[in-house]
Amino acid sequence: MQLSALGYFGLRTARIAEWRTFAEHVLGLAATTDDAGGLRLRADDRAWRIALHEADTEEFAYVGWELPGPTELASAAAELAAAGVAVTHADEQLLRERDVLGLIHVEDPNGVRVEIFHGARTAITAFVSPTGARFVTGDQGLGHVVFNADDFDATYRFYTELLGFRPSDFCDLGRKRVAFLHTNSRHHSLAFAGLVLDPQRKPGQDIDPGELFHFMLEVDDYDTVGYAYDRCLAGGAPIALTLGRHANDRMLSFYARTPSGFEVEYGHGAITVADPWTATRAAGTSLWGHRRPVRPEGSTS
Ligand SMILES: [Fe+2]
Repeated sequence: MQLSALGYFGLRTARIAEWRTFAEHVLGLAATTDDAGGLRLRADDRAWRIALHEADTEEFAYVGWELPGPTELASAAAELAAAGVAVTHADEQLLRERDVLGLIHVEDPNGVRVEIFHGARTAITAFVSPTGARFVTGDQGLGHVVFNADDFDATYRFYTELLGFRPSDFCDLGRKRVAFLHTNSRHHSLAFAGLVLDPQRKPGQDIDPGELFHFMLEVDDYDTVGYAYDRCLAGGAPIALTLGRHANDRMLSFYARTPSGFEVEYGHGAITVADPWTATRAAGTSLWGHRRPVRPEGSTS
């Protein structure tokens, strides 16, 4: 199958009010309240891109990958079933909740709920960012998501052989290897990190499978990144990683800590990729920057 793009993702959180302030005033997303008291965040002409569901936990709930239409979705369901993957077809309620025309869902090797859909709704009203941000979406979809993988090789096979992702590059970080995968011209819509360098390791050891490291939002100029960085420094959110330039996609970005505890990368200036593309391997993630900030002595924030 050939997925078009990252369409959406959903989170469960007990911190809806904090998320609303963070999403609107730090990230520049437009928030609306849904029927169940959760939040829907807009980044472009789509009715929503990120859903926040009220819960008593902080966790990643699902990720939605987009296909062009119903024929492609039927083929995808058949391909996955033929490969022995348990495929669930959405009922009317789930279709209404996601606001899509067709949807199936499967579980990846880490327990991440992977939704594959077509027919997202576009909003009739224009997207207006509270901070004036303009997000790079369109054919490249919504940024990227990065997970922990328990079994690197099984996760790699699942996303490349079954879901059709192609490798952009790899990065070795100590005992961890990170795979960066693309499904359109965005350098990576998905990345995952697994402990591959220790043959003695048992499954589930030293890693929380399916845990979200961060998601990324790309804006259309450097100043928008800088303004958001300033808003974090002024108390909007803790900086998780300082401004820096990634070695692989060349994105200039910083990372802020979200109200749920995981991070969001906010950047501009990434390269795009075109197939055929040959993946390479790097020994680090950044050319400069992306450091844990030094906090004044005695500071706990
Ligand atoms: Fe990233």
